Amino acid sequence: MLRRRDLLKRGVIGGSAAYLAWRFPSLMPPARAGRLEPFSLPLPIPPVLQPVRRDASGDFYELTMKSGRAQLRDGAATEIWGYDGIWPGPTIRATRGRPTHVRATNLMSRDVNIHNHGHKVPVESDGGPLDVIHPGESRAYVYPNDQNASTYWYHDHTMGNAESIYRGMAGFYLITDPAEDALNLPSGEYDIPLMIQDRTLDGENRLTYGLNEKTIEEGTLGDTLFVNGVAMPHMEVANRKYRFRFLGAANRRTLGLRLGDGDPMIVIGSDGGLLEAPVSLSALPIFNGERWDVVIDFSGYPVGSSVVLHNTRGTELGLSFPPLLPDVMRFDIVRSEPDPSDVPSQLASVERLQPDDAVKTRRFVLEWTDGHWTINGRIYDPARIDAYPVLGTTETWEFENRSDQIHDLHLHLVQFQQLLGPDGQLPPPYRSGWKDTKRILPHIMESIIVPFDGYTGVYVFHCHMLEHAEHMMMGQFEVVGPEGPGASATQPNSSFVCPLPTSTRYG
Ligand code: C2O
Ligand code: CU
Ligand code: CU
Repeated sequence: MLRRRDLLKRGVIGGSAAYLAWRFPSLMPPARAGRLEPFSLPLPIPPVLQPVRRDASGDFYELTMKSGRAQLRDGAATEIWGYDGIWPGPTIRATRGRPTHVRATNLMSRDVNIHNHGHKVPVESDGGPLDVIHPGESRAYVYPNDQNASTYWYHDHTMGNAESIYRGMAGFYLITDPAEDALNLPSGEYDIPLMIQDRTLDGENRLTYGLNEKTIEEGTLGDTLFVNGVAMPHMEVANRKYRFRFLGAANRRTLGLRLGDGDPMIVIGSDGGLLEAPVSLSALPIFNGERWDVVIDFSGYPVGSSVVLHNTRGTELGLSFPPLLPDVMRFDIVRSEPDPSDVPSQLASVERLQPDDAVKTRRFVLEWTDGHWTINGRIYDPARIDAYPVLGTTETWEFENRSDQIHDLHLHLVQFQQLLGPDGQLPPPYRSGWKDTKRILPHIMESIIVPFDGYTGVYVFHCHMLEHAEHMMMGQFEVVGPEGPGASATQPNSSFVCPLPTSTRYG
C-alpha cells in the first residue's frame, strides 16, 4: 500500500484539502480548510532561557510577563500573551539537585503568576491560584529541582488562566540528571519539546476566546492544532532518532496522536520521569497537562519523504465538538546523518507502589452541581482543606466521575502512580510510571496511589480542563508534619472573590 509519505514524494497529493477529505471525511471543517494551508510554517523551537548569574546557590533567571506579537500562521501577526512575550515561553533547563531562582516581573495589566507544573516545591514558590503577581510587581520563585529528570512545564495559575494560557502563557521546564545523560538518548538539537494546543483564529488572525455557560461547562475548543505556537507546522529532520517531549497544553481538548499510518512511537517517559522500559505504540492519547517523552526513529524513511503526525480524536462522548483539522504537524526527512544515540531496554528503575503501601483511602466525587464543576459537591474555597495527608505517608485517592465529561485530575507537589484502571485492570505499561495528571473517564471510578513527600503546607488539586478548574473543580490538601495542621505556609486567601458569574446549566 502506498503510504502518505510515498505519495508526497511522488507528488501525487498536491493539495492537502483533497487529502483531508479523503482521509478524514467526517472531520473536514467546512470553510476554513481552503484558507489555512497546513505545514506552511516551520516549527519554532522555544529559546532556552540564559541565567543572568550562577553561584553556589543555583542558577538565577529573569522573566517578564507581557504581551507580544507572533506569526501563528500565514497572514497577519497575532497579539499573544507570554513569558518574555513569546508563546511558548523560553525553556528553562535545570539540573537535578541544583536550584533555579526565577525573578518574574508582571508587565501586563492583569494579575498573573508562575506555577511550575509537576514540581515538588515549598508552597511559597508553588504559584497557587491566589498567590498572584500584580501588574508592575516582581517576585522570586525558588525551585529546588530535587526530583526526577523529566519534562515539566510552567504556566499562569491565577483564576483566569484559562484565557491566559489560551493566549500563550506556558513554557517548558526540563530537568536533566547524570543518570539520564548516561543513557545516551537523543539529545541537544535532537531533543525537541512540542507543546500541542488547539486554538481558533478569526479572519484577522486574532485569537478568539470567550467564556459563556457552554464553555464553562464544556471547555474552550479551537478548530486548529498549534505546535509550539504555530498552526500545523513542519519540521525538517535527519534520518535518525529524535526525542520529542510532547505536552498536551490545550484548554480542554484531548488528543490521540498517530504518526503516518500508525508508525511506531517509542514512549520512554511520562509526567514525572523515565519509564522502566521503552514502550512502542502506534497511537498515543494525550490528556491536558500530560507529558510524554517519545523517541521517533526516522531512519526507516527515505530522505526526501515526509510523514504527518495526526490527531485521531475529533469528537468525544456526547459532546458537540467543533470540527478540527486532523493534522498536528509534518516531519520532512531532508538529510542523512549518523546516529550515535540509543534507546536502552532498561531506562530507569521505577518502584511500583502497591495498594498495601497506602495508610488511607479517600474518595472524591467529580460532578456538575448547581452550575459549577465540583469535587464532593463543593466548589473551590481557599478557606477549606479537603484532606490532611501526613508528610512521608502514602494514600490512595479514588476519583469517581459522575458526569458525562472527562476530567483530568492534577495534584500539586506530588508525583503518583495509577492503580486500577476503569476496567479493574492494571494500567498499560506506558501509564505505569510517575504521573501528576490523570484523566478520569465519564461515569468511572479510577484510583491513584500518592506518596506525600517533600514539604508540608497547603496545595491545590484540580481538574486540568482549564475552564473546569476555574469554575471551580479545585480542592486543597494540607500535607501535615509532626507539628500538625496550620503550622506551615498556606495559600493566601484574604483577597478571594469568586470570579464566577452565576451560571446555570444551559440547554
Ligand atoms: Cu498545570 Cu495546578 O496546574
Ligand atoms: Cu501543577
Ligand atoms: Cu474537568
